Amino acid sequence: MGAKVVVLDRDGGAARHVANRIGENGMAVEANMRDRGRLAAAVEATIERFSRVDILINNAGVYPRMPFLELTEEQWSDMQDINLAGTFRMSQLVAAHMVKQRSGKIVNISSVTFFLGTKLLSHYVATKGGVIGLTRVMAKELGEYNIHVNCITPGAIQTASEKFFVTEEQSREFLTMQSLKRRLQPVDVARVCAFLAGPMSDGMTGQTVNVDAGWAMH
Ligand SMILES: NC(=O)c1ccc[n+]([C@@H]2O[C@H](COP(=O)([O-])OP(=O)(O)OC[C@H]3O[C@@H](n4cnc5c(N)ncnc54)[C@H](O)[C@@H]3O)[C@@H](O)[C@H]2O)c1
Repeated sequence: MGAKVVVLDRDGGAARHVANRIGENGMAVEANMRDRGRLAAAVEATIERFSRVDILINNAGVYPRMPFLELTEEQWSDMQDINLAGTFRMSQLVAAHMVKQRSGKIVNISSVTFFLGTKLLSHYVATKGGVIGLTRVMAKELGEYNIHVNCITPGAIQTASEKFFVTEEQSREFLTMQSLKRRLQPVDVARVCAFLAGPMSDGMTGQTVNVDAGWAMH
């Protein structure tokens, strides 16, 4: 859609693969969402290369499953540090530039599991609920700078990593829960990101948009 895109991931090879497909408007950065110093350097590199930053999509996240009664302190903290604190860190670093520009669009990726209370994901669901709360407060505090902050709660999306742990039977089960009888693809979420990152959503902030093919009906 004409955007210049910085692809940040802890997996540098994957980031470069995507950035190469975007071409001269793409740039890859290898950085971990847990490392504030690396994230700050990534934001500076973005400003150096493209002069400004108009859009931030906070998408990096992990979702290993674990029964609540077996969760360790370390597993809990790791999850919070990547999914929730990572969103806080990156948003704060980027918002500093958006405040100067007096404009910006931030899109946070939460999850429909927050509405469903999905089993084996207590640590994950807690982070994704946190992301919704963070979205609302950021929207209130940053609104005066014309910075929009919204959130998407994806349903079951058929990503490459999902194939590692979702069986064909579970995949069919998802369809029985959804109103629309097709598996959602990454592009279904990307299109709503594009809407929330562009001018069509200029009247919205602090909102959570559910992209789950009619599962939770939030
Ligand atoms: N796939 C689904 O069904 C689904 C549903 C709801 C929400 N989500 C959310 O969507 C987002 C993307 O999920 P996905 O399914 O595409 O997963 P994915 O594993 O395919 O992609 C996540 C990416 O984040 C990167 N990443 C993970 N930890 C990182 C870290 N500490 N620092 C930097 N990069 C890191 C990974 O390397 C990977 O490229 C996540 O926030 C996830 O919680 C996914």
